[in-house]
Amino acid sequence: MMMPAPKKTLYLASMAALGLICSILAFSLYFEPPSPVCQSTLADEEYDEGMDPSEKPIVLLWFWPLGVKFDFKVCSSYFNINSCFLTADRSLYSKAQGVIFYHKSIDWGLRNMPKGPRPAFQKWIWFNVESPTNTAKKPRLTNLFNLTLSYRRDADITVRNELTIRKTEMKDDFVLPKKDKLVCWIVSNKDKATGTALRERYCRELSKHVKIHVFGTAYAGYRLSYEKYYSTIASCKFYLSFENSIHRDYITEKVNGPLVAGTVPVVLGPPRENYEQFLPSDAFIHINDFPDAKSLAEFLLDMKDEAYMRYFEWRKFYTATPHLLSINNEFIQPVCLACDHMSRDKDFHVVHDLYKWYST
Ligand SMILES: *[C@@H]1O[C@H](CO)[C@@H](O)[C@H](O)[C@H]1NC(C)=O
Repeated sequence: MMMPAPKKTLYLASMAALGLICSILAFSLYFEPPSPVCQSTLADEEYDEGMDPSEKPIVLLWFWPLGVKFDFKVCSSYFNINSCFLTADRSLYSKAQGVIFYHKSIDWGLRNMPKGPRPAFQKWIWFNVESPTNTAKKPRLTNLFNLTLSYRRDADITVRNELTIRKTEMKDDFVLPKKDKLVCWIVSNKDKATGTALRERYCRELSKHVKIHVFGTAYAGYRLSYEKYYSTIASCKFYLSFENSIHRDYITEKVNGPLVAGTVPVVLGPPRENYEQFLPSDAFIHINDFPDAKSLAEFLLDMKDEAYMRYFEWRKFYTATPHLLSINNEFIQPVCLACDHMSRDKDFHVVHDLYKWYST
């Protein structure tokens, strides 16, 4: 863009100021961290030597993701999954049919991986729910795993928070939560990772035309106190569901949260068609529906109540389910799903080129 020098300086200065405001706002509000997760209530179920492994496979969680322990009993109590014996006891390694490896915890030199011989029946499960942009390409992980556990639809075990279809077309019992803000955004430090430049640029652009209420968190949204997370989102008409990086199928809790709360998500992420594979087309607004941030801002500012309410029509047919309300740990569900999968899967697999698959 060509501009006379003084004007250009002014332009750059105002961009910088807006950037600063965005970042300050992002950190201005902190939520209470949750109480330590299940630290005193770890599974006390013991492995029974007499248990027939063909009945209930042993699935070993090699690392506690991010070091946070949880109670495996949640799989049966919350997800109704009880078809394997989940354990974090490494002494059961040689008996385990499945071993789950959380990608982030794997040492770059694989020094913290199992040392002993790998039983022929054993399957190694690669567990990663970060986007490819935020997935470190640790060497020597090709031809090492047998199953993938990720948010991707083409993973062997897919973890998603999908909308559930209502069994019968119920009477629309939805009551719109009270709104006192137009546009909100919760940004987490965790998501300050890589690839967030696009998202931040769009926020800056948008904030020139409409006020954005930004809430910062010490951790990702799901680590907030749940009541505050949902009630904060519910108090806004629109919520910026901006993914930290753009990848196929990488559509996270950032979209599910507002759907649960009764707020319209404004999404930045993969193309609309990809969202529509998971969500009704009229449940969200995509930034690509508009030529620029200014037109999006105008659309949001000018929206009439009647048009707004149309974004909730999908609720007659689907239900959005909140992330685990009481447990506050995003890793439990994937581990439970791996357990469920292991009890059914008898096939031979090898994940050859892990990164090639993950980055396409
Ligand atoms: C799992 O993958 C490893 C490594 O490629 C392979 O040697 C092993 O035979 C596979 N096992 C099963 C049960 O698929």
